[in-house]
Amino acid sequence: MIGIDILEIERVKNFVGNDKLLRSIFFESEIEYFSKFNNPCERIAGFFCAKEAVKKAFCCEDNINFLDIEILHKNSGQPFVVLHNNAEKLFKKNNYKNIEISISHSKTIATAICKIDN
Ligand SMILES: CC(C)(COP(=O)(O)OP(=O)(O)OC[C@H]1O[C@@H](n2cnc3c(N)ncnc32)[C@H](O)[C@@H]1OP(=O)(O)O)[C@@H](O)C(=O)NCCC(=O)NCCS
Repeated sequence: MIGIDILEIERVKNFVGNDKLLRSIFFESEIEYFSKFNNPCERIAGFFCAKEAVKKAFCCEDNINFLDIEILHKNSGQPFVVLHNNAEKLFKKNNYKNIEISISHSKTIATAICKIDN
């Protein structure tokens, strides 16, 4: 199963400095990652796309929220997903084997794709 999403980076400008909004969608670990960059919008938009792509790969199953999906990075920089709550339960219940994501951004657009092996 696959999911994809694309987003204009300017649409997340209002996230910067808005802690309440950021925390409604992103984990502390993710917000910490954004803070390492001079222009965090590219990263915020990329992560937003990644979470939407994960939701799509789950076939837009009900009850999967942004805070059920955590994006982290390996030492190489490659992103990976840690599922929590309903997403984790659904993944286990359906006996899915593996979940992978890839993120890319230009100055204006971010995109991400997710693949779940069943
Ligand atoms: C890493 C690399 C693929 C990024 O490509 P890019 O065209 O500069 O940037 P893109 O916008 O397409 O991609 C950026 C995303 O790539 C992902 N990425 C970074 N390193 C990655 C890797 N090793 N494997 C897979 N994905 C990676 C990240 O998700 C990043 O977005 P994020 O920081 O918001 O999560 C590219 O710089 C590259 O091939 N570098 C050579 C390897 C390298 O320098 N590794 C550094 C650590 S050893």
